[in-house]
Amino acid sequence: MHVLIINGSPRVKQYSNTDKILEKFTAGLSETGCTFEQYEVSDRKQWDSIRAAFDRNENILIALPLYVECIPGLLMEFLETLTPKNDDSKMSFILQSGFAEGIQLRCGEEYLEMLAERLGCKYVGTLVKGDNFSIRMFEGKQQERLTLRYKEMGVEFGKEGNFLSEKCRAFTGPEVFSAPMRIFIGIMFKTVVKNGFKNTALKWGCTKPLDYRPY
Ligand SMILES: Cc1cc2nc3c(=O)[nH]c(=O)nc-3n(C[C@H](O)[C@H](O)[C@H](O)COP(=O)(O)O)c2cc1C
Repeated sequence: MHVLIINGSPRVKQYSNTDKILEKFTAGLSETGCTFEQYEVSDRKQWDSIRAAFDRNENILIALPLYVECIPGLLMEFLETLTPKNDDSKMSFILQSGFAEGIQLRCGEEYLEMLAERLGCKYVGTLVKGDNFSIRMFEGKQQERLTLRYKEMGVEFGKEGNFLSEKCRAFTGPEVFSAPMRIFIGIMFKTVVKNGFKNTALKWGCTKPLDYRPY
């Protein structure tokens, strides 16, 4: 199977978490003997090539981050330039986000199912997972610890040609955290995370407090 992969993040490849996820996913995919070609929507110079690849490929996978509970505006702008297909092409998605609970990605997942149909393709599932905020903050082994889990899903996709298996569904993790976990995360955000942001702001030369509201 040959797969067209489109990274739908507006972040340039170098800084895109989606790209780091795809690095591992495609490593797994290649292990099963599949081939792929990958493009980035963030690079407008590639848009003509992506449109041509969309027209000639039968297996299309769009990987995208959740931006403000929905799909990134730049990706939407690109998708509106596509001519819907009318053949047996299959379309699947990798939908990833910062916050970890699966439930916040489900609305986006439903939208993607409709999108595949509107683009004239057969919908073959979405791989849904959050907890990816920090990928781009790490390098080497630390980053690999966060992205390696996608390699197994690349193998699964290579074998099945879709994300419809129970294994893919389970990959999402918890739909909602337990009450103690939510309290714990709330405390962490108000202390450790807040301090982290404060220190970063200081390093960047910010002289005002982060909650500064002059107006
Ligand atoms: C403008 C913006 C909006 C975001 N909105 C959400 C959101 O609604 N829910 C969420 O869980 N993560 C959100 N995130 C986090 C991203 O989904 C997450 O960091 C993702 O891994 C980014 O992938 P990328 O680097 O390939 O763009 C947002 C990030 C940005 C920059």
